[in-house]
Amino acid sequence: MSTWANLGLQDSASPLMEQLIFFHDHALLILVMITVLVGYLMFMLFFNNYVNRFLLHGQLIEMIWTILPAIILLFIALPSLRYIYLLDEINEPSVTLKSIGHQWYWSYEYSDFNNIEFDSYMIPTNELATDGFRLLDVDNRVVLPMNSQIRILVTAADVIHSWTVPALGVKVDGTPGRLNQTNFFINRPGLFYGQCSEICGANHSFMPIVIESVPVNYFIKWISSNNS
Ligand code: CUA
Repeated sequence: MSTWANLGLQDSASPLMEQLIFFHDHALLILVMITVLVGYLMFMLFFNNYVNRFLLHGQLIEMIWTILPAIILLFIALPSLRYIYLLDEINEPSVTLKSIGHQWYWSYEYSDFNNIEFDSYMIPTNELATDGFRLLDVDNRVVLPMNSQIRILVTAADVIHSWTVPALGVKVDGTPGRLNQTNFFINRPGLFYGQCSEICGANHSFMPIVIESVPVNYFIKWISSNNS
């Protein structure tokens, strides 16, 4: 979860998010190098007195400063393309979770297990426990097993919502009439917070997501206790 003065990305809780953080740092490094170079050149323009009355064209330099940026962009584009396809890969999921966006809450269905389904509402500030997180905690958490490949199906009942959990590297739109799919693998236990990220109406900010990542045997216990 993000806390005060945490300006960067959250620590990853899944291998895909780890890769995304590496890619972010890689792209940022290239960006810094370009900014420093261009900034230096622009700054130095103020201090030179060079005048060249006969300079009309420079074929060579224009070739260089056209092709060089194109090559630099390839170093961002090719890894980016790799991650797009990597994020879309489904690796034999052991659990499927369906999440449906509503105005303004999420509902979940565990279709693999006797059709468990429940709604997940944000806890209003006046009902919040002292250790609760304002605008972020929900009444019914999504319990999921860690160290298992999980498939998530996202859709919506009214308008477009987006099921987004930064620590897991998941961001999928829930669109009425469509069923979107992605997958993730949680590699540590804990609570992972997310929020809707499609502007879906007045209470868009108040439909958070809480994932409770637990060991597989605890997950099985939780599933069985909900089956009655
Ligand atoms: Cu649902 Cu924004």
